Amino acid sequence: MGDALFEIDPDIRVARTLPARVYSDPEIFRLQRERLFARTWHYAGHADLVKVAGQVYPFTLLPGVLDEPLVLTRDSSDRIHCLSNVCTHRGTVVVEGAGVEQQLRCRYHGRRFALDGRFHSMPEFEQTANFPAKTDDLTEVPLGLWERFLLVALAPSAQMSIAAIFAPLVARLHQLPFAELTFDVLSARDYLVNANWALYIDNYLEGFHIPYVHSSLATTLDYGEYTVELQRLSVLQLGIAKPGEPAFALPREHPDHGRAVAAYYFWLFPTTMFNVYPWGVSVNVVTPLALDRTRVSFLPFVWDASKRDAGAGAGLDRVEREDEAIVESVQRGVRSRLYERGRYSPARETGVHHFHRLLAEFMSAT
Ligand code: FES
Ligand SMILES: [Fe+2]
Repeated sequence: MGDALFEIDPDIRVARTLPARVYSDPEIFRLQRERLFARTWHYAGHADLVKVAGQVYPFTLLPGVLDEPLVLTRDSSDRIHCLSNVCTHRGTVVVEGAGVEQQLRCRYHGRRFALDGRFHSMPEFEQTANFPAKTDDLTEVPLGLWERFLLVALAPSAQMSIAAIFAPLVARLHQLPFAELTFDVLSARDYLVNANWALYIDNYLEGFHIPYVHSSLATTLDYGEYTVELQRLSVLQLGIAKPGEPAFALPREHPDHGRAVAAYYFWLFPTTMFNVYPWGVSVNVVTPLALDRTRVSFLPFVWDASKRDAGAGAGLDRVEREDEAIVESVQRGVRSRLYERGRYSPARETGVHHFHRLLAEFMSAT
């Protein structure tokens, strides 16, 4: 692949946006599997999925892209693990359903593993030489825990320390009542968007479109005060409330004390969003299903239901449908023979520029 395709000038004033091909070329989408998705952190679930010792929860990481069978476990020492869910004998998926187990037992030929992934026993292997070895354990996958939320990465690049990625969230949000969060499973929902995953991220990373696309959201947020902060591997956007609109009551020692913060929009490169409102946290998980098809899961975790229906955190379904419609329009546009690439607004598109720089960095690295 010509790396020029992914050259994004570090100076936003002269930079050009990603070429349209990045959103519409099947070969680029295929290359993103190993170069990007296998090397980055992705949302895996919340800690209550394995709340008590012995609980196991199988899942597929990025179905359609990585298709990696994994399993979350909580061992008898109360430690959470993320393990490969593929038997080290001949490759059967070990855990097919969530439950409580003493050990993990492969149903094909009876190999057993401890809940931390270590090989335990296997019938009929007495004559096998050099057995068991480390390679007979289930591989442990790097796991990061922030408050109640779990992220995993198959082979994180050395620069992707999860502690560093979480640091801005900890600094801004540690005083909020995460212990009181409950997952509102009934209002969780998935949206299917007929667009490339990166177009959905582009749209998320700017408030530029709010006055044009989101008339209801625009009545509650102060467009002039909207701010974007760049971190190495994340972007924080602050939605500031118009006078009289709902906002966090932040204590004196908080870095944002004195600002009417209506929403913290945290994006962790490349696919995870934590939208934090006075009522709680809406986790948005972006799953690329195909080149031009993306699932966006809205997972609401609530600490104060009485604040759910007002301000920037209300009416999220309407805002999402407005975003989908515009992003699907862009997907049709980037297939055009007459569009190649655009320019950035230095005032409003620093988040999009930062994402494009990160994408370029990962796609160009071999
Ligand atoms: S594949 Fe698991 S025991 Fe044979
Ligand atoms: Fe939007």
